[in-house]
Amino acid sequence: MNQTAANQATDGLRDVVALNSDICSIENGVLCYRGYNIDDLAENSSFEEVVYLLWNSRLPKRDELEALRLSIAEQAQLPEGLLAMMKAFPRRTTPMEAVRTAASAMAMFDAESEDMSPAANGRKAIRILGQMASVVAAYDRIRNDRAPVAPRRDLTLAGNFLYMLTGLQPEPLAARALDKAYILHADHELNASTFAARVAAGTLTDMHSAITAAICALKGPLHGGANEQVMRMLNEIGTEKQVEPYIRRKFENHEKIMGFGHAVYKNGDPRARHLKEMSRQLGKLTGQEQWYRMSTDIEDMVVKAKNLKPNVDFYSASVYHYLHIPSDLFTPIFAISRSSGWIAHILEQYNRNKLIRPRANYIGERNQKWVSMDRR
Ligand SMILES: CC(C)(COP(=O)(O)OP(=O)(O)OC[C@H]1O[C@@H](n2cnc3c(N)ncnc32)[C@H](O)[C@@H]1OP(=O)(O)O)[C@@H](O)C(=O)NCCC(=O)NCCS
Repeated sequence: MNQTAANQATDGLRDVVALNSDICSIENGVLCYRGYNIDDLAENSSFEEVVYLLWNSRLPKRDELEALRLSIAEQAQLPEGLLAMMKAFPRRTTPMEAVRTAASAMAMFDAESEDMSPAANGRKAIRILGQMASVVAAYDRIRNDRAPVAPRRDLTLAGNFLYMLTGLQPEPLAARALDKAYILHADHELNASTFAARVAAGTLTDMHSAITAAICALKGPLHGGANEQVMRMLNEIGTEKQVEPYIRRKFENHEKIMGFGHAVYKNGDPRARHLKEMSRQLGKLTGQEQWYRMSTDIEDMVVKAKNLKPNVDFYSASVYHYLHIPSDLFTPIFAISRSSGWIAHILEQYNRNKLIRPRANYIGERNQKWVSMDRR
């Protein structure tokens, strides 16, 4: 291998530019999808509008948006065989394990799973996104001995998710809050799960396989799993008075505080601001401001002691909690939203494919002499 390249090898590929993409940019701390600032999208768009933008490189007209919303709702219905399979999962299966396995199994119930034509991939994109939401909601009902609820044609993906989870008409405010959270999580350049999706897609494997690879990467606590850990921490802390000793203990034990720090943003994650405001408003609305206040107290301490800012996962924990979503569904919800970004990246990878195959800088022993078993 070229010695200069070897000398520059970095663990974790930090700051390595791995490919060209026109989907998502993070420049000077500003996050944009297809050139549109996330702040504008979060305030003014719907999630389906953002999905259209990610997949088609432009904002939809009114009828195009409605057509996409409707097809996602219609395609969200889960095949009976998949539901039967999910009912057979062992009781201890976590929702994230269920999503990982169901995403892979979705391929076996999809007649077009091996069809790599652009038209079939476009149809699968819609099915995968819709079915991901249904899988998360259905699995939560199955594990609570309740019958899964079928999606409705008149709802958005966020509204349908809340409806399928509870069986009740979703509150407009709750549906809009989840919709906004979906927008903020939809894509994030070459994060670990998206990179995993592109590495898989680069081998020209099918879309369901690439999505499954992405879910496996998202599951880890250093990536999508952090939001659930944040809620666990808030529950462990319990009251505002306990914030100070709890966080101090974490510092003393050199433990990481989940929901803080970021591999790319060093001056704050632009998505966190929106989630913080949502958490504040929902706290006020529900009369349970303690979760928001505990979060801001933690933020003050971590910023002061470590100069680490909250990332997207920190305030999404209290936001989802206010929406009565169980904490082990937080990462699966991330997976629903991020499927839209994964699909955009998978399609881009297929369109100008190059197998992703980096090199490793070898740092092990050299010229070892093989010795027979009885001389070791
Ligand atoms: C996201 C994350 C993996 C980015 O990591 P990174 O840029 O590679 O930074 P590192 O993990 O190498 O950390 C650099 C330093 O900051 C510290 N640090 C980073 N995140 C920290 C956190 N959340 N709490 C306490 N210390 C933290 C590290 O301990 C390390 O300190 P050291 O140099 O004294 O060893 C890291 O910040 C993290 O683990 N955060 C918690 C998990 C999380 O919220 N993930 C969601 C990401 S959106």
